[in-house]
Amino acid sequence: MTATAKSSPDLAAAPAPAAIPELSADFRWGVATSAYQIEGAADADGRTPSIWDTFCRVPGAVVRGENGDVACDHYHRTAEDLAVIAGLGVDCYRFSLSWPRVQPGGRGPANPRGIAFYDRLVDGLLERGITPWLTLYHWDLPQELEDAGGWPARDTAHRFAEYAELAYRALGDRVTHWTTLNEPWCSAMLGYAEGVHAPGRRDFGAAMSAVHHLLLGHGLAAGRLRDLARGPLELGITLNLGRGTPATDAPADREAARRADGLGTRLYLDPLVHGRYPEDVVADLAARDVTLPVRDGDLAAISAPLDVLGVNYYSSHQFSGTTEDGATTGEDGLPVVRAVPFGRPRTAMDWEIVPEGLTELLLRLHRDYGLPMVITENGAAFDDVAEEDGAVRDVDRIGYLDQHLRAVAAARAGGARVDGYFAWSLLDNFEWAEGYGKRFGLVRVDYDTQRRTVKDSGHWYRETVRLTRGR
Ligand code: FCB
Repeated sequence: MTATAKSSPDLAAAPAPAAIPELSADFRWGVATSAYQIEGAADADGRTPSIWDTFCRVPGAVVRGENGDVACDHYHRTAEDLAVIAGLGVDCYRFSLSWPRVQPGGRGPANPRGIAFYDRLVDGLLERGITPWLTLYHWDLPQELEDAGGWPARDTAHRFAEYAELAYRALGDRVTHWTTLNEPWCSAMLGYAEGVHAPGRRDFGAAMSAVHHLLLGHGLAAGRLRDLARGPLELGITLNLGRGTPATDAPADREAARRADGLGTRLYLDPLVHGRYPEDVVADLAARDVTLPVRDGDLAAISAPLDVLGVNYYSSHQFSGTTEDGATTGEDGLPVVRAVPFGRPRTAMDWEIVPEGLTELLLRLHRDYGLPMVITENGAAFDDVAEEDGAVRDVDRIGYLDQHLRAVAAARAGGARVDGYFAWSLLDNFEWAEGYGKRFGLVRVDYDTQRRTVKDSGHWYRETVRLTRGR
């Protein structure tokens, strides 16, 4: 198989659902979504545009020019979707609030009609015995705040804290699980450095300012929520993480792995947990004439105590410090950091399937940061084929989930404190720059009719949860 070949995991048939003993006690099972990817109703009830509404209109930004105007129309199909979630037998549902629905324009008072939607959702979950696991920011910055400078501007961190307070005042009486940010690496790097996500800027220095202001926004919001909380509060942040290893023992490869780990993992977790930016990364940035815009008191705010670290895991990478031609400096004049394929099967996203990387990642996070963790996203896109009645025999997705759940179990057996798992995703949905072509759902969405059909992986997940719980 060539390194770029797409193929399903090597599974003749899907593994039958079975109990996973290491996950039987004190473990929370869930499914996850995010606002822009499923809600639709882009201009309903006072919602204003986010950077994703704007970005989707940029020619070439999203495959086939697709956008989230309608998405899964979850905003109007909430009751049906609540029934689907309950049918999967999960304990928790992870979703995000649309900032411009809650606070149109990103400033001023809360929008009662936007809040009413989340009231319905939260109340519906609680009525069904499902714990709402709320994320404040899953990438949909109000466009007006981008026009005022976006995340590279310090004021956005303050706006975020204010929005967090509005949201908490509206929902904090019923929601106890609060995640500030989803994957700030993606917001900063994909949005401001690489330009492949909204707002589509390509400025590395701006991206590093965005990193600091995202983390500051997290810290300020966390402080507000702690101050406001009168009852139990489980507060966290979700990061996208993977295991990053040197491709060989050569010094250049070890250096490349250090750089990748620095910019991908330690740049976030060191300030969040240890209250300081990693010195080697700060030095690497200085060599590029980039300084993080840190002011007095920022790191104290950023390192406010966390109850839980959300880990989103899809794949792992190994790095080489040389180009294929053996050069150690790239065309951009920077040291080479090149991901080298393992030669594993890949998902439809072209992401290699590396389940043992999840075990090693969780053990490393436990060792270096010591926080309780929850897998807030894990799952896979495959090129599903729907039968006439909508059924999807997605053995490849079942194989992926099975291998990764077992990887979590192995990490627990090794001492890592991981006490929950959310499958990404509940529904097929708008996969950002990939549009609707990449399907991650446990539940199929027919975008012509908005019909939902539980895939084989959804049935498998429900049975795995049931058997593992043993009740
Ligand atoms: C993560 C995002 C999520 C989804 C998955 C596939 O990076 O948090 O919204 O797109 O990837």
